[in-house]
Parts: sequence; structure tokens; C-alpha cells
Amino acid sequence: MINIPEQLIARLKNASKVVASTGAGVSAESGVPTFRGQDGIWNKMNPEELASVDGFMANPQLVWEWYQYRRDLMDKVEPNPGHKALADLEKMVSDFTLITQNVDNLHRRAGSSRILELHGNVTRNKCLACDKPYAEEIRLDKGLPYCSCGGMIRPDVVWFGEMLPEREIRAAFAAAEEADLFFSIGTSTLVQPAAALPFLARRNGAYVVEINIEPTGLTTISDLFLQGKSGEILPEIVRLLR
Ligand code: APR
Repeated sequence: MINIPEQLIARLKNASKVVASTGAGVSAESGVPTFRGQDGIWNKMNPEELASVDGFMANPQLVWEWYQYRRDLMDKVEPNPGHKALADLEKMVSDFTLITQNVDNLHRRAGSSRILELHGNVTRNKCLACDKPYAEEIRLDKGLPYCSCGGMIRPDVVWFGEMLPEREIRAAFAAAEEADLFFSIGTSTLVQPAAALPFLARRNGAYVVEINIEPTGLTTISDLFLQGKSGEILPEIVRLLR
């Protein structure tokens, strides 16, 4: 039985600005593996090889095969009740912003529209050299993709060591500073700068709620820790808010 404190629902009803920041844990119940933790991707794969510009330059075929595998996986999975509850909250709360580190496009497929994708989106591509966007689906059976400028086309996701998209990260920091209620959901709170957002929100007076199956580095400073699966807790919050 999930116990959602009444005072959280009261805060949601009275909040003027609500921000939710999600990580890989919110997609775990859809069958998308997380990065760390027991079956985490980075326990089996080398992030430097698969998620860095150097790794891409050294072996673009391998990196493209990896993203082909991830795209095929995401085509097979569906948004879960956690994604859908966040899309509902966007409609129920006057000023709601969703910030995500996820590149899996599941929040959009669930109906969320006010999204800041800090790490890009795996369904998009761009040229490594000139940044030209390529929206069409790229399949490897036609060979490695090249831009009209001659540069290599890459998935439009943020790799380790790269800067985050400026518009998104500026808006995310502004939202965290202005929030009076901040949810941190399904993230290990280990990867910067996204990991700084709940702390910034707390310093600016927000009430910080963490939803995770286990404690993280944020838990001790959060105002409320709801331990459990986001796909079970978030729909219950929406049910109580209705
Ligand atoms: N509900 C809630 N939380 C969950 C669930 C669930 N069903 N399943 C797992 N979690 C939690 C885990 O306990 C963990 O704290 O989700 C978190 C996932 O952490 P990570 O795998 O580290 O993912 P994330 O925090 O999103 O990683 C940040 O690192 O590898 C890079 O770019 C990648 O965006 C990613 C970034």
C-alpha cells in the first residue's frame, strides 16, 4: 500500500510552480534498462566507447550499432503509468515543467509537452561537424550516414564530456530556482549538471520530494522521500489530486 501524505497533495493544490526532474528509473518499468544499479548498462558496457565523441570517432560503426539497438528497444516498449501520470500532472497543475535526463522519448509518447530534454533525444540525429539536424530515421543497412557537408551524422544525444543544450539547461536552472515544489524521480543524482537541480531548488525554498526505489545522495536533504516504484507512486498522487 502506497502512503502519500495528505500535506503533499495540499501543497500540489496550492503550488504556483511545480517542477519534476526524471532519470532512467522512470522508464525502468517500461523495460528500458537504467545505467547504474544492479542490471545497469554501464556495468556491462564501456561508456567511453559508446557515449563519447572520442569513442564515436574511434569506432562509429560500433556506436551506431549500439544506438540502433537502443532505438529498436524503444520502438518495442510503451510509456508506463509513471510517464502517463506526469503527463496528467502537466494538465492538472497551472505551471508545471518536466525536466528529463532520458533520451528515450517516452515522456513525449505519454503526452507530456512542456519538456526540457537535457541529454537530447535518441529519435533525432545531427551532423557532428556542422550540427545540421536530420529528422529522418537513419538505418545502418545503408552504411554509415554522412551529412551534405561531409561530416558524420550522429545521434542527437549528449555524450560524456559534452556540453548540454544551452536553451534547455538555462531553462532547467531557472525553473529549479523558481519552483515551490520540486520532484526528483528515478535518478541516482550522480550526473552533473542535472544532479545539482534539486539542491538548487531546495536552496531557493522549494519543497523537495524524492521518488526512488532506494535512497540516493539527495535523500538526506529532501523534504519527503517516497520509497518505491515511480510507476506506482505517481498515479496514486494523481488519483489523490483529482
Ligand atoms: N522507480 C523509481 N526509481 C527507480 C526505479 C523505479 N521503478 N527503478 C530504478 N530506479 C532508480 C535507481 O534506484 C537509481 O537511483 O533510478 C535511478 C537510476 O539511476 P541511473 O541508472 O544512474 O540513471 P540516471 O540518474 O538517469 O543517469 C543519469 O547518466 O549515464 C548517464 O546520460 C545518462 O541520463 C543518464 C545520466
